[in-house]
Amino acid sequence: MNFQYPIEAALEPADGEAADLRAAWRELRAHMEDSGSLHSFNGPKSTSKLHVFRRFVSMFNLDNLPSPLSRLHDYLVARTRDIALVEHRISLPRLPPQFDGYRLVHLSDPHFDSLPGLEDSICERLSGVNADAMVITGDLVDRFFAPAECYAGPLKKILGSTRFRDGVFAVLGNHDSWKCVEVLESLGIRVLVNESAAITRDGGSITVTGIDDPSYFYTGEILRALRHSSGDSTGSSTGEFKVLLAHSPDLADLARDQGYGLYLAGHTHGGQICLPNGKALHVSLERFRDFGEGPWNHDGMAGFTNIGAGTSILPYRLFKRGEVVTLTLRRSQDPSSPVSSPESSPEHPRE
Ligand SMILES: [Fe+2]
Repeated sequence: MNFQYPIEAALEPADGEAADLRAAWRELRAHMEDSGSLHSFNGPKSTSKLHVFRRFVSMFNLDNLPSPLSRLHDYLVARTRDIALVEHRISLPRLPPQFDGYRLVHLSDPHFDSLPGLEDSICERLSGVNADAMVITGDLVDRFFAPAECYAGPLKKILGSTRFRDGVFAVLGNHDSWKCVEVLESLGIRVLVNESAAITRDGGSITVTGIDDPSYFYTGEILRALRHSSGDSTGSSTGEFKVLLAHSPDLADLARDQGYGLYLAGHTHGGQICLPNGKALHVSLERFRDFGEGPWNHDGMAGFTNIGAGTSILPYRLFKRGEVVTLTLRRSQDPSSPVSSPESSPEHPRE
């Protein structure tokens, strides 16, 4: 029997307890993962081309290549692991004054099992960085059913070397199984599974909503979360300004319509393998393909697509350096539109 996608049922207003909604999501997500019934906003999604490419790559043992190729492999891996710290400032018209200067660290797509040792580079880049909170927009691993130690160990190292007074928030990517949630939560990470959390500061607050991956695991539960983001699943006060965490920028229009002021995403890797001018050979987005990397603005809503720290399938990047990002939120005097700009040049230029 084909799996019937329960979009309509999940569009019903949420009146259950948060724990019930989480349990219902887990059942639905597990079914999608096990049956391969993947969906984007546009409909059923096929991964067959990806599987063929992955199988082709797996025919080669990249750790045991003949000598000249082995040296090239080692050089490219070391170069790929050498990510940048990129700093941006985002001016937001509706940001509560208490959050003027609020700083986020944004990590996305580390794919820890694809690029061993990446966590050391991330720790190095974040050394000395002061931020209020960290957000992670998915794809902790490359292999869907990679064991927990593949990402738990690296994350523990990163969290052990950093401190964020408002904590760490995360959403799942298309490479992350529902089983990751429990592991991440055991590390103290607040995983937002179509849920919201409030951050308060001196009487002001912002709401952070996190949704499941919209590019492969799109369900009506995502729409429910977007529409009901004013309700915090912890029961604390509602936020005045809404931030959305999603693995991909596919739902920019829906988020804009629901009044979000800032949309943070990843997923694209900036193409990962690019032409010498940095142009991506492939942009893995079905919608809003212009939002493939960096800051963007959709009809007054600010967005940022992180090109990710790690790599998928191949442990290489070409002409697109991986990154970990700091985003400083500034309250804008201009109510018309948000503006994003680099805060400074990258602190770690490649030698
Ligand atoms: Fe990714």
